[in-house]
Amino acid sequence: MSKTRLGVERHDAGEHAVLIGEGVLVELERALEQDLRPSRVFILGDENTLDLCYGELVRQVPALNDAQTIEVRSGERSKDIEVCRALWSHLAERGADRATMLVCLGGGVVTDLGGFVAGTYMRGIRTVHVPTTLMGMVDAAIGGKTAIDLMGIKNLVGLFAPPAATYVYPRFLRTLGKRELLNGVAEMVKHGLVRDADHWNAVRRAPLHDLDALAPLIARSAGIKAAVVQEDPREGGSRKLLNFGHTIGHALEAFALEGAQRSLLHGEAVAIGMVCGSWLSWRLGHLERTRMDAIQEHLLGLFQPFVLQATDHHRVIELMRSDKKNKEGGFRFTLLTDIGRAITDVPVTAAQAADALDHYRLLTHDARPADDHAA
Ligand SMILES: NC(=O)c1ccc[n+]([C@@H]2O[C@H](COP(=O)([O-])OP(=O)(O)OC[C@H]3O[C@@H](n4cnc5c(N)ncnc54)[C@H](O)[C@@H]3O)[C@@H](O)[C@H]2O)c1
Ligand SMILES: [Zn+2]
Repeated sequence: MSKTRLGVERHDAGEHAVLIGEGVLVELERALEQDLRPSRVFILGDENTLDLCYGELVRQVPALNDAQTIEVRSGERSKDIEVCRALWSHLAERGADRATMLVCLGGGVVTDLGGFVAGTYMRGIRTVHVPTTLMGMVDAAIGGKTAIDLMGIKNLVGLFAPPAATYVYPRFLRTLGKRELLNGVAEMVKHGLVRDADHWNAVRRAPLHDLDALAPLIARSAGIKAAVVQEDPREGGSRKLLNFGHTIGHALEAFALEGAQRSLLHGEAVAIGMVCGSWLSWRLGHLERTRMDAIQEHLLGLFQPFVLQATDHHRVIELMRSDKKNKEGGFRFTLLTDIGRAITDVPVTAAQAADALDHYRLLTHDARPADDHAA
């Protein structure tokens, strides 16, 4: 990590830089004027980010004053091939060329979608990511993975298309709702668990409503994600550390979409996946019981319980099998050996995964249904 003249942190994330801090938009202005020099700029956002963040962006980045905005509807449904078709056409009709740049202003939906559209338009035009959700700031806008959903399967079609750089301006979080904030906190907890025990302790104690207290922790989390990507940009090995909680988490996310229960946000599903993952880590002899207890206690205190029936496990395991990351015959999990240390590719059987789900079900057994006290 280095610091710019304006005191902005700069991290390398393999194929792109991540800049974080109060002065980051001024750095973006400088980069647009001096280094990037695009022929034209389009700004992609959804109705919320264009309403709540666009004004501040152009106020601090006058170079974007003439940029055309493109709005997509907020929500996962926009990560769709028809939306891509509309965006490609929009760019072509307005004469976007290879020197055109797309600024993606939004959460993970906007950066995943915009990154994919820009990465394929004319075999790739440049992007800049300006994440506006906590999930985007510590995870989605870092590392160059882009994708859209197809046939109800998340992120089925995509490519590595790193942005020119990612500019993290934590003040954009002022307008983000509590549920969306917690969604990102789950990934911050994960960063601590797999890589940095001090960070886990700091995140655990942080007053989440206080942006000033949160900002340095956001920088630390973004730095951890960047460092892991830097070591393994295309996920050949160590980047799998970041999958802790995700094997079961992804399946639960898909499962929740099928049922009548309140849907699960990605981070909420990953939090359950981390409860199951810490249990498996203990059960398979990698993690001390006291560590597992501490992780579970924290996560169960942070998120509303998701009601699982014993009869649901079968379907969740089926969904795990259809996940593109799981090879034939059993699963490969990222598990913990301590707080701050993880191992990848641990073989886990379907029966063990079902036991882990059952463990979560019993832990939350007495809880009321999530809808009774949804945030
Ligand atoms: N590429 C990756 O490495 C990666 C990593 C993690 C997640 N993702 C993807 O990210 C997506 C989820 O991203 P997300 O959680 O940011 O959700 P999101 O982009 O849907 O944003 C959540 C909601 O917050 C609103 N919003 C955004 N910024 C706001 C602000 N500053 N104030 C008020 N409201 C605001 C949005 O309009 C939206 O309604 C998923 O599609 C997931 O697959 C990608
Ligand atoms: Zn995640």
